[in-house]
Amino acid sequence: MIVCDKGLFTLHTNNTTYQMKADARGVLLHTYYGPRVADCDLSYRIRYVDRGFSPNPEEAGEDRTYSLDVLPQEYAACGMGDFRLPALELELPDGSRCADLRYKSFRVEAGKYALEGLPAFWGEEGETLVVVLEDAAAGVDVELYYGVLEDYDVITRAARLVNRGGQTLKVRQAASLCLDFQREDLDLITFDGKHVLERCPNRGPLLPGVRSVGSVRGGSSHQHNPFVILCERGAGEDHGLCCAAGLLYSGNFQAAAERSQFEHVRLTLGIHPWHFCWTLAPGGSFTTPEAVLCCSKQGLSVLSHRLHRAMRERLIRDPWAGQPRPVLINNWEATLFDFDAERLVNIAQSAASLGLDLFVMDDGWFGRRNSDTAGLGDWTVNGEKLPGGLEALVPRIRDLGMRFGLWVEPEMVNEDSELYRQHPDWVLQAPGRMVRGRQQLVLDFSRREVRNHVYGALKAVLSSAEVSYVKWDVNRSLAAVWSAALPPERQGEVYHRYILGVYDMLEQMRRDFPHMLIEGCSGGGGRFDAGMLYYTPQIWCSDNTDAMDRLRIQYGTSFCYPVCTMGAHVSAVPNAQTGRTVSMETRGVAAMHGTFGYEMDPSGISQEEREAVLRQTAFFREHQDLIFRGDYYRLSDPFQNGPYTAWEHVSPDKREVLACVVSGPIQGGPPLRTLQLKGLDPDLCYQAGGKNPLPGSVLMEAGWPLPLPWGDYQAWQFYLTAV
Ligand code: DGJ
Repeated sequence: MIVCDKGLFTLHTNNTTYQMKADARGVLLHTYYGPRVADCDLSYRIRYVDRGFSPNPEEAGEDRTYSLDVLPQEYAACGMGDFRLPALELELPDGSRCADLRYKSFRVEAGKYALEGLPAFWGEEGETLVVVLEDAAAGVDVELYYGVLEDYDVITRAARLVNRGGQTLKVRQAASLCLDFQREDLDLITFDGKHVLERCPNRGPLLPGVRSVGSVRGGSSHQHNPFVILCERGAGEDHGLCCAAGLLYSGNFQAAAERSQFEHVRLTLGIHPWHFCWTLAPGGSFTTPEAVLCCSKQGLSVLSHRLHRAMRERLIRDPWAGQPRPVLINNWEATLFDFDAERLVNIAQSAASLGLDLFVMDDGWFGRRNSDTAGLGDWTVNGEKLPGGLEALVPRIRDLGMRFGLWVEPEMVNEDSELYRQHPDWVLQAPGRMVRGRQQLVLDFSRREVRNHVYGALKAVLSSAEVSYVKWDVNRSLAAVWSAALPPERQGEVYHRYILGVYDMLEQMRRDFPHMLIEGCSGGGGRFDAGMLYYTPQIWCSDNTDAMDRLRIQYGTSFCYPVCTMGAHVSAVPNAQTGRTVSMETRGVAAMHGTFGYEMDPSGISQEEREAVLRQTAFFREHQDLIFRGDYYRLSDPFQNGPYTAWEHVSPDKREVLACVVSGPIQGGPPLRTLQLKGLDPDLCYQAGGKNPLPGSVLMEAGWPLPLPWGDYQAWQFYLTAV
């Protein structure tokens, strides 16, 4: 619900309230974001004090208590006496870098706004508030967009800058979100890591100064994720105030939190200002990516439930929102580049005999791609490996009762490729420089002709047979970036234009192949972000398929992203990344914390393992809806090296529960543990197998006895139903 009253703007969701107010001078002040409160002007919380070295705008006259340096602002601009993190930095033709934003107008629209060419939450039932600020001297309007998804407890934000004056301006920074908290006792949780160990949570108190994470790699990155959580010091899974902020963007980003001299906190989130500079000609506009906000007073679990539901139902688009996903088998870890049609059909045959749904042919099927040094860019089927092309291969897979999927890496090119030989000028590369990553270069996706060429070739392949799935990969960071299509003074636009080009091609692919499932990937989880989820409903979580490492990666990912978005597969042992051997059962339980599938050649597995695969697949199919749409609870923290890692899925009506437990390395005399379940109906009785039913209150407080582990890394799944 949006309530507008003489410059006071209040946004209510079912459980949260957000408020801002244009003050007497037209400065838009942020008054509150937190648990839902009654309609009331909350600007009484703002106090005016004369502070040394906090300057005063001209119209404050002799009133030294009015300074932008200490006021909580809705969209802080640079240069006018607020020395904290800015949301907006403009450069005028005279070289000055000041922006002075004052309230101009507002409008309310039915439905949640969309952003042209950018990912955004959607929902006809939502509402939109647009508050327009202007800098009269610069001739710029800043339209602040707010989307309210009331039932989801989610508020979205974006900003659109419009040059209404006659001079060309430079936008040096335009954050998607600026949020001031009038308190300092907050922890910041970020999700950090590296290739093969992504999104590990790091939590720490905000100290005076700035703590920031971000990416300047061109993609959202393995190293830091564009989702952060601010929470009260003592907040935990089940209690305490927490607030998540995420960016729907897959390129360079910065999330920064500043604890200021007067013990307030400002959070900014948006495109990274490094190497960003957007030229805004008269009449031109620039729209930031969307940011999403979610808040919970009941701790991190409820925060995750709200984010998960909003992403499942209002970010992922049809036909995949709420739909079951195929159980797939991918040949990558089994074959790498060394395969031909017979080897693939052999894998597919044994996968079909295990009842799997979809066979995915990974890297190596095109051009002269026999290793990672050649072929990228040449999107025609390699006739030596696959005589007769997809037209010959796909019917053989379909005859086995399986659907077919294909790996692609459209954004990249190898120097050893026909494409590069014909168009060496199509790469993003500063003149006289060359930085390779995995022996490949990056195509300039900011250029339409480049995208058209690549997409034309891909479309022909995808149209040549029945392709139900595409895995869209990207395997290097961007470096020495420069576009031949932009003049020197506009090179600061190139990273953003690149990502807009990626989104443009993904949207085109969705339009042309509306029923095809696209899985995102970037060397595993290097582009695991809410922007990609708008186009690709699932993302390969990590190149690390070791079950025990995956439990950590998936745990970290779960704070902000739902289980149905996490690509997770059972792979062969010893694991290719860690050398660890874990039983088929345990690998299956870990992969069911995600989209579930296999990444191996099942023709060589033992009869016992075949039976395990058959059991797992049947179990996953039976419980996929509960796993994907149930409320997800983290029951233990795998980074604490406790004896067990445990998590739980509870159906929305609380009548079905799946608790999953994996033990760590065995020790002599292992402790006897009970598992306290969460989220049950205390008054319902739950039964597992033939055991005596127990009330929800008992299972939550007294707990469920866990079996004694025997050997390393055992796994159990307990399915309980209300009786
Ligand atoms: C990186 C991906 O994450 C892997 O799953 C695989 O597709 C390889 N690329 C192929 O080159």
